[in-house]
Formats: sequence, C-alpha cells, structure tokens
Amino acid sequence: MFRRALPAVALIVFSILFFPYASHARESVLNILYTGAMRGELEPCGCSPETQSGGLARLSGYISANKAALTPYVLVDAGNSFEGDKPQARLKSEALVRSFAVMGYDAAALHISKTDIDDAFITGLVAQHKAGALPQGKSMKAVRDGLKINISSDEKLAKKGMINVLLSGRTVAVLKDVKGWDVIVTSSGEELEGPVQAGKTIIVSGFPKGQKLGVLSLRLKDGRVTGSTHRWQPLMKDVAEDPEVRSILKDYDQKVAALLKEEELKPVIGGQYLGAESCVECHQSFAESWKTTKHAGAFATLERVGKSKDPECVKCHVVGFGEEGGFLSLKATPGLANVQCESCHGPGREHAADFGPMRPVGMDVCLKCHTPENSPLFNYQEYYEKIKH
Ligand code: HEC
Ligand code: HEC
Ligand code: HEC
Ligand code: HEC
Repeated sequence: MFRRALPAVALIVFSILFFPYASHARESVLNILYTGAMRGELEPCGCSPETQSGGLARLSGYISANKAALTPYVLVDAGNSFEGDKPQARLKSEALVRSFAVMGYDAAALHISKTDIDDAFITGLVAQHKAGALPQGKSMKAVRDGLKINISSDEKLAKKGMINVLLSGRTVAVLKDVKGWDVIVTSSGEELEGPVQAGKTIIVSGFPKGQKLGVLSLRLKDGRVTGSTHRWQPLMKDVAEDPEVRSILKDYDQKVAALLKEEELKPVIGGQYLGAESCVECHQSFAESWKTTKHAGAFATLERVGKSKDPECVKCHVVGFGEEGGFLSLKATPGLANVQCESCHGPGREHAADFGPMRPVGMDVCLKCHTPENSPLFNYQEYYEKIKH
C-alpha cells in the first residue's frame, strides 16, 4: 500500500520543494526611479520649514545609501530639467548635468524642454561630463537581471519582447492615447498623487522641481508586467547628502558669485533709497523694534548658507534689489542689506526732506516676498503681530 503510494508522495514532496523555485525564476521586480520637470532647481531655498524637500545632493545621497534595497532599478529623467539660457540658468544646467552623471542616470531626456535652450550647449555638457543622456528620437537598451528594458523618447520606438519605458514631456491627458508602452514618464510638471493607468500603460509624472523621487516598482512574470506599486520618496533634511554632488553645488555657488562683478558696481549717488540708518535719526523707537525682527538679520541668513551673492536669493533679503538706487552688493551698498524700513515703506529720500507721506503698507507689500513658495505659512494677521512697531 505504502509502496504504491510512494511515487505520488515523492511527487508531492518534489513539488513542495521545487515549485516555489520554479515559479520564482520567472517572477521578478524592476524599480523605475524617475524624475522630470526639475526646471533647474538644484536644491530648495530653505526659506520655510514647509518647503525643505528636494535637492540633488539628497537625491544622490538617498540613491547611493539605498542601492541594495532599490536594485534592480533604472534611473531616468523625463526632461524639462533646465530653466533657460541666461548666464545663471546655464550654470544651473551645468551643475545638473554633472550631478546626473554622478548619480549614474541611465537615461535623461535632456532635449525635452519647454524653455529656450541652446542644444549645442547641452550636447557639449553631456559629452564633457559623460552623462547618460538620451538623444532626441532615440532608444537605449538597459539590462537588469537578464530583463531587457527599452527606454526611448520617441513614441514610435516601442520594442517587442522588452519592457518599454517612454520619456515624454506631454500631458497625461494626451499620453493616455499613446499605445505600446509599459511605462510612460512625463516631465509635463503635473503633480500626480500616484500613477495613472491607461489600458496597459502606467503613466507617471516627475515631481515638479525634484522635490520628491518617484519610485515605481513593477512586478513581472516571464518578462511581462503583472502589477505595480508606487511611492514618492521625500528628500528631507534627514537624508544624508552625497558629498560629491554637494561639491558640485558649491562650485555652482562660486560661479554664480563670480557673475557678480563687484568692482564694476557703482552705487547711485543721491539715490531714492537711504537705508535704515537715516530713518533712525527721526524714528529711533521704530528702529529699535525693527532690529528685534528677523528682517534685520535677513542678509546674515544668506551669508550663513553661502548665498549672499546669488541674485535669485538676494532679491527678497535686501532693500530695493534690481531698482534704481537699490541694493547691488554688500560691498557697493552695505547700508541696503537686510529687509529694512524702505523694503516695506518704499524709498525715503523725499520723505526725509519734506516729511511727506510714505507709500501705504498693506498685505500686498508683504506678498512680494512672502510668496506661497517662499513663505507658505504666511498669514497676514499673525505675521503683522510679529513686526508691528
Ligand atoms: C520671493 C522672495 C524670496 C526669495 C527669492 C528667497 N527668499 Fe529666503 N525667505 C523669504 C521669506 C519671505 C522668508 C521668511 C519665510 C517665513 O518665515 O515665512 C525667507 C526665509 C529664508 C530662510 C530662513 C531663515 C530662518 O529664519 O531660518 C533662509 C535660510 C532663506 N530664506 C534662504 C534663501 C535662499 C538660499 C534663497 C535663494 C535660493 C532665498 N532665500 C530666496 C523670501 C525669499
Ligand atoms: C523685501 C522682502 C520682504 C518684505 C516686503 C516683507 N518681508 Fe517679511 N521676511 C522677509 C525675509 C527674507 C524674511 C526672513 C528673514 C530671515 O529669517 O533671515 C522675513 C521674515 C518675516 C517674519 C519672521 C517669520 C518668522 O518665522 O518669525 C515675519 C513675521 C515677517 N517677515 C512679516 C512680514 C510682514 C507682515 C510683511 C509686510 C508688512 C513683510 N514681512 C514684508 C522678506 C520680506
Ligand atoms: C515688514 C514691513 C515693515 C518694515 C520692515 C518696517 N515697517 Fe514701519 N510699518 C509697517 C506697517 C505694516 C505699518 C502700519 C501700517 C501703516 O501705518 O502703513 C508701519 C508703520 C510705521 C510707521 C507709522 C506708525 C504710526 O503710528 O503711524 C512708521 C513711522 C514706521 N512704520 C517707520 C518704520 C521705520 C523707521 C522702519 C525701519 C526702522 C520700519 N517702519 C520698518 C511695516 C514695516
Ligand atoms: C528728518 C527726520 C525724518 C527722517 C530722516 C525720516 N522721517 Fe519719517 N517721519 C518724520 C516725521 C516728522 C513724520 C511725521 C509726519 C507727519 O505725520 O506729518 C514721519 C512719518 C513717517 C511715517 C508715517 C507717516 C506716513 O506718511 O506714512 C513713516 C512710515 C515714516 N516716517 C517712515 C520713514 C522712513 C522709512 C524713513 C527712512 C527712510 C524716515 N521716515 C525718515 C521724519 C523723518
């Protein structure tokens, strides 16, 4: 009896032992790590605790610290990475391409761009820094654990028998009708909570300004996608920075500072802005109260973070930046550093001479600097209480 049953028992035992392995061999996962719509954002400004997520140094730090858990993965950028073609924007493009090279991007669709940008300049950067750029209308092949992945920026270049990933700059609504792709990553800048499923295609969108890393995990069987999960990886202060990318960003800060030709800056003699020192003469008590506010230390804040020569930061942390007679640099116009009386009340030269009325100060004045982006917690009543004098 037992003997006769033996083959059956052996078969069952065999199946139990080997079945999981047999099926395992065909099942696998692949992580698509993606960014897009970086728009030249190298790191968050740090103006508010609410807007602290992101930055290339943390992105790189996160990926290298979690390599084992993320593997197998491909790292892609869907484009709209640059800000434009002005001198500072070009320095950003350079820092971005260099950082992408350090992170080992498999494919970055650098040519997908809504801004005016010189192609030859970008091509030069890519060649110089050996970044994994995906040229226009091309495909590239990546292999992970024997799985063949086709990454392309051309909607017509999906390939049979491969995992197809399209990098695009078009909107999700339009991409819903594009067939033949397992995954589409767009850099349209749309902020999605998670992937959009369109038929067999999973559409994801790079988080604007690189504030979060998209992690799309594909489940595969016999090289076909059977399911997926998705998460946004925040990049907050607790993520250790990659020192190599940090040094690229430091280099960027120095190059931006060098754009400022201090020797050539000539302060306007008799300009419309006087600086708080002049107001003190007649408004002692107001000046005392102003000195206790954070406005009085706004320039020191920039010095602390190494951005006191970056016009993109300086403009809100001083008096009259970009205006005739306003702040130029600490050296040229030391009396106009910090957010002072005239940042709110307007230029005071005439008033100091004739005691005439100053510009009325209401919420609209605050909002020029307290933008939703730089001061998301701004509330006029609460903030006014802290500065009233
Ligand atoms: C549009 C105006 C604006 C620009 C541009 C701007 N800031 Fe600010 N910044 C602010 C305001 C407003 C606050 C105060 C926010 C609050 O407390 O709600 C602030 C606060 C800060 C703080 C926080 C200071 C503290 O108390 O801890 C830092 C740091 C800072 N900014 C750095 C920068 C840097 C670096 C840049 C450039 C990359 C920059 N800012 C560009 C308006 C600006
Ligand atoms: C020229 C730009 C500018 C204008 C105009 C401006 N602020 Fe600010 N404000 C800043 C900056 C920059 C900081 C951050 C200073 C720092 O901490 O280094 C700040 C910080 C503050 C803070 C401190 C926030 C905190 O965390 O304690 C308050 C309060 C504030 N502003 C209120 C106002 C109000 C109210 C107005 C309008 C009546 C106003 N500000 C107008 C630039 C400006
Ligand atoms: C952050 C913006 C801000 C800054 C900086 C600021 N003020 Fe004011 N100030 C206001 C607001 C708001 C009021 C009240 C509304 C109004 O009277 O227009 C005010 C009111 C005043 C008044 C009129 C008070 C009254 O009772 O009528 C004087 C004078 C004055 N400020 C002087 C100064 C001087 C001097 C400084 C610099 C040492 C200064 N302010 C800095 C926003 C500011
Ligand atoms: C030489 C003295 C003197 C100087 C310097 C001076 N003020 Fe005044 N300020 C006055 C007098 C006097 C008044 C009151 C005028 C009135 O109410 O008729 C006044 C009123 C004000 C008011 C409230 C009235 C209004 O029209 O808004 C503000 C705000 C103000 N000054 C801001 C400033 C600022 C900012 C500076 C520096 C750029 C400054 N003042 C420099 C003498 C001065």
